[in-house]
Amino acid sequence: MTDHDKGFCIWFTGLSGAGKSTIAEVVVEELRRRGHRVELLDGDEVRQNLSKGLGFSKEDRDTNIRRIGWVAAVLARNGVVAVTAAISPYRDIRDEVRGQIDHFVEVFVDTPIDVCEERDVKGLYAKARSGEIPEFTGVSDPYEEPLAAEVRVVTDDREVTASAAQVLSYLEDAGLTHPGPAPRHD
Ligand code: ADX
Repeated sequence: MTDHDKGFCIWFTGLSGAGKSTIAEVVVEELRRRGHRVELLDGDEVRQNLSKGLGFSKEDRDTNIRRIGWVAAVLARNGVVAVTAAISPYRDIRDEVRGQIDHFVEVFVDTPIDVCEERDVKGLYAKARSGEIPEFTGVSDPYEEPLAAEVRVVTDDREVTASAAQVLSYLEDAGLTHPGPAPRHD
């Protein structure tokens, strides 16, 4: 078994529009280039499939996060790098999932809400402010910041590649990946 067959989980957390998916995609691409088997469980995609029908109450969000955590654990114990990108606003559930996965790397994408709101990529913050969307994270619903995330990226004035590099550098220091040519998979 080479380094590249070791499964682990990279768990992105942060507000809507913080940049979780964008940074995750760059990390995923680089890990694949290095020869890892990687699966991205993106929040929006999960909600269209695995968690279809769930809403945004605490109970539904907890169910959503537990499902993502369960799939990530299955992948990680089978040698896959599971990368997740859901808001996952509640600390207790993130920690519960952490307890179920051997190598759990929490990445806090710490983008200030005014920056997320300024970007408002999906136009949802405006709707949240007007009350059209209730229970919106950061506006009318809580976001509990991680207290001891393995990586904290501040995307305010940084390029996506710099944020991704920060994550990769943590993984290298932790011995979970190393830079260099990708091994052949045949
Ligand atoms: S989580 O809280 O359960 O982790 P998840 O990441 O799956 O959330 O979904 C968040 C996405 O759903 C947001 O990026 C946004 O596009 C959309 N969304 C719709 N309603 C809400 C809401 N009330 N709060 C947060 N996000 C919402």
